[in-house]
Amino acid sequence: MSEKQVARPKSNGWLISVGLGINVGQMTSDARNVIAKADVVFSLATNPISHQILLDLNPNVHSLHVYYSPGKLRPVTYQEMIDAVLTEVRKGKRVCFAAYGHPGVFGYPTHMSVKIAREEGYDAVMLPGVSAEDCLFADLGLDPGTFGCQSFESTDFVFRERIWDPHSLLIIWQVSVIGILTMPKKNEIPRGHKFLIQRLVDVYGSDHPGILYEAASLPLCNPRADEKSLSLLMPKDFRPETTLVIRPLDNCPRANEEFGKLIR
Ligand SMILES: C[S@@+](CC[C@H](N)C(=O)[O-])C[C@H]1O[C@@H](n2cnc3c(N)ncnc32)[C@H](O)[C@@H]1O
Repeated sequence: MSEKQVARPKSNGWLISVGLGINVGQMTSDARNVIAKADVVFSLATNPISHQILLDLNPNVHSLHVYYSPGKLRPVTYQEMIDAVLTEVRKGKRVCFAAYGHPGVFGYPTHMSVKIAREEGYDAVMLPGVSAEDCLFADLGLDPGTFGCQSFESTDFVFRERIWDPHSLLIIWQVSVIGILTMPKKNEIPRGHKFLIQRLVDVYGSDHPGILYEAASLPLCNPRADEKSLSLLMPKDFRPETTLVIRPLDNCPRANEEFGKLIR
């Protein structure tokens, strides 16, 4: 079969991946409709209220958190999640894969489930949700349009030779597990912490601030936005839900004076 040909599905199953948002009020009405209509809902909700909202919409909710365990490689966990979701689609079920935040932002199992289902000929789509980054722009008053904005996964950011513009806003995800490819054991110190700090200090200087950002996930709670000099950031500052935000350096050099004369 050529790459463009799509297999004929063995059943009428379908898959829709939706986002639950970060805060419980951020579930879109599209997401609610899909959750209510599905035969089976697989959930990666991170708080009990979101889980309860799912159960109120559909009694057949299965938490995919059962596949996580300390010390287990995350790719193994993700594959088990994908298998669980696709098994139901192949049985002809209408399946919803609901993940917190935006399902396509750091969503390997959601992206792969949709991709494989499509390759097998099933109808499969992903609907956008409200990600931590969306909350960040609102809570911290930082607009990606002002300086530009770059987002990286922490391990990838340090391991690869990523070229980024320090005059843009920099967002680093998954800082609590930098260098750890398993689900961390209790009190495990991330091996990559010092490498991350060194990389940032080399470019921004040790006094440049980093913002430890956590969007509130429950009503009436405030976001965390602790600002600290880069050299003072400790592993214990990074919690599983922490995203590290680095403000841009001032005075971005101009690239084209001739073009500058045309701007009015
Ligand atoms: C696997 S990713 C999930 C991202 C999620 N799908 C989204 O759309 O935001 C986990 C990372 O998201 C970020 N994150 C999760 N919850 C957050 C929160 N409440 N506030 C800020 N960042 C958060 C952290 O960087 C965390 O390590």
